[in-house]
Amino acid sequence: MSVFLTGATGFLGGYVTARLLELPGPALTLLVRASDRDEAIGRLWRALQFHASSDRFREWLHTRIRIVAGDITLPSFGLNHPDWHELACSIDSVIHLAATLNHRSEKLCLNVNLRGTLEVIRLAQVADADHGLRRFSHVSTTTVAGIRQDEVVAEDRAIEWDRSDHDPYARTKKFCEHMVTTLLPHVPRTIFRPSVVLGDSRRPETTQFDLVRAFAFFSRLPVVPLRGDDRIDIVPADYVADAIVALHGKTHPLHEIYHLTSGTGSETFSAIMTALCARPTFAPWLRSPCAWGVRRVSEWRGTQIGRVASLIRVFLPYMLANTVYDNRRVVDELGRRPPPFSGYCAELRDFALQHKFHYPYTPLLAADSAVMTTERVV
Ligand SMILES: NC(=O)c1ccc[n+]([C@@H]2O[C@H](COP(=O)([O-])OP(=O)(O)OC[C@H]3O[C@@H](n4cnc5c(N)ncnc54)[C@H](OP(=O)(O)O)[C@@H]3O)[C@@H](O)[C@H]2O)c1
Repeated sequence: MSVFLTGATGFLGGYVTARLLELPGPALTLLVRASDRDEAIGRLWRALQFHASSDRFREWLHTRIRIVAGDITLPSFGLNHPDWHELACSIDSVIHLAATLNHRSEKLCLNVNLRGTLEVIRLAQVADADHGLRRFSHVSTTTVAGIRQDEVVAEDRAIEWDRSDHDPYARTKKFCEHMVTTLLPHVPRTIFRPSVVLGDSRRPETTQFDLVRAFAFFSRLPVVPLRGDDRIDIVPADYVADAIVALHGKTHPLHEIYHLTSGTGSETFSAIMTALCARPTFAPWLRSPCAWGVRRVSEWRGTQIGRVASLIRVFLPYMLANTVYDNRRVVDELGRRPPPFSGYCAELRDFALQHKFHYPYTPLLAADSAVMTTERVV
């Protein structure tokens, strides 16, 4: 029996997969979007090389990893019926991370987040009917709480169906939670809601640059359209992955929903800018003109400034919300708080600038690839 994981090739999925593999435990069955086995292994290596050497990766592949090539937007992930059924009968629990984080595309959010999650739930139902599923862990987001201003949001008060959502991403992730609780009523469930996941508190490197780019941009401006005393809830990926793995493995976690956040320990923009050695003037009265300008510039497709504006257009509403998400549940159960962003943001920004917002990926050696393709791959 194995833990079934979706989204292992993603930023957070790489952390969760590596953390599970670092600990003794059951095998992992990883759903990887790929047209053939070599591509699946190559994509997995791309996500895991941040966490492990190629030797370690090879060892994991031999001893702990089973790869299933599939796509959550296809019926039965695109597998034939016997493979789908065999998959359902072989899993002990599910960690569902796969999603689109494209905040603006209704179509992608509908297909990947809603239809994709429904397909993962369908697999879980078959597994549960066959032998009983130990746990279904769903990785959601604090954005399910909708548009908020100046609040501390607690887990059980986050979803309000008549509240407006920020965007299609937030709306569809909110409905995913609803599907999980409605369609798996008898399965032990855990819903994880990370806030903004940014960097790694233990090292400067990252593979995900979207918000780092936005912070690097703001830290170079003489004037920023923010209030210095506003807080933003940022949490490092290593803390989020530790929490998901620890709580997914528990027999009886104390709660069903956990905010994986910095909560009331979230820092202000002033504190973050100081840590970035930036001294901008905070000019909150510029919020509306700036939002208008960002909308216009984000339409300049194909230009560098247009790309930065597109990013800021997505994140600006979250940056202006001055809302944090209560994290007492996870802190009590894990016994530690997430390290503050100010403790590692300057190194993270410097790494991103030095590497021009690209991680220096190393391709798998041809020899490694030949060894690996003989392993167990559906
Ligand atoms: N990053 C954050 O700041 C943050 C904050 C809160 C919550 N979350 C949640 O955390 C989870 C992981 O986020 P992330 O940052 O790791 O995102 P990511 O880097 O974009 O990874 C998304 C993962 O989903 C997979 N996926 C997308 N479409 C798929 C499909 N049709 N079939 C199979 N797999 C598919 C991707 O596979 P490919 O490699 O093939 O594209 C990738 O492995 C998501 O559920 C997200 O909502 C993230």
